Amino acid sequence: MGKKLVIGSSGQIGTELIHTLTKIYGENQVVATDIYPKQEGKHDGVLFLKMDVLDSIHLASVVKEYEISEVYLLAALLSAVSESKIKSAWDLNMNGLFNVLELARQGQIKKVFWPSSIAVFGPTSPKENSPQQSILEPNTVYGISKSAGERWCDYYHQKFNVDVRSIRYPGIISYKSLPGGGTTDYAVDIFHEAIKHQRYSCFIEKDVYLPMMYMDDAIRATIELMQVEKSTLSTFKSYNIAALSFSPDDIAKEISTYIPDFKINYSPDFRNKIAKSWPSSINDQDARKDWGWKQEFDLKKMTLKMIEGIKSNNSLVSSSI
Ligand code: SER
Repeated sequence: MGKKLVIGSSGQIGTELIHTLTKIYGENQVVATDIYPKQEGKHDGVLFLKMDVLDSIHLASVVKEYEISEVYLLAALLSAVSESKIKSAWDLNMNGLFNVLELARQGQIKKVFWPSSIAVFGPTSPKENSPQQSILEPNTVYGISKSAGERWCDYYHQKFNVDVRSIRYPGIISYKSLPGGGTTDYAVDIFHEAIKHQRYSCFIEKDVYLPMMYMDDAIRATIELMQVEKSTLSTFKSYNIAALSFSPDDIAKEISTYIPDFKINYSPDFRNKIAKSWPSSINDQDARKDWGWKQEFDLKKMTLKMIEGIKSNNSLVSSSI
């Protein structure tokens, strides 16, 4: 069947994806790679290789040597950090994708997962319930790279029959590893600060709603999309998937039910402008119809999981940016 290669395995999503993939397919069927060296205690039992996805020769040799059939390409610079690293963000987010798509075009890998983002939408897209097909005029470096990436995935699918599957991830909330460099990161930071200091200074305005999702749902969506029969998919562009939509005020109120002394104040910075250029909710009817996507976590269930998880998680390792 061939092994699964996760590129960017030490990041927020990679950390948890590796865990689930090894549970499903076995430790010896998964290879973890990241540009940073292996972190103590992370992915024990799984083969880890230090690799830069921009090194196409190294990537090709890893694919060959370890008989890789599926690649999950998670290495990327996120929205906030990309604004001050324009060239390196474009380079990593685009050329990393090209390197993987090229291997798929040459038949060296069978299937690719590449995450897109709600950042493909921009100020001219519908704000509420943004549809799968819409005006996409992102005004962030990250959003531009993701919307171009979607076009390339579609191109490689149409022209070379490459099996590349994609999801437009909303903000992902998790406690096992920290996100880094994103705009939706506030919704993770807020939990850590609430538990540690009972206060949080939020860089997004009180009433800015964004699409969000608990990590378990995001991982399940990723694996379900990769496992589904190719013929059931109506698009190889990138699926909208929705779960939650909340504002900083909503999440602060929910946290206060567990931590009554919790206080939030607002000090919006450039990330607020990014957040305001994105939709507040998205329409995911295609994903629901095509491959049965359905979220399990609402705001209440997620908040409880986050608070319990952070309190009991002593070995939190920060993800790479
Ligand atoms: N979570 C990402 C970010 O904030 C959006 O996909 O950059």
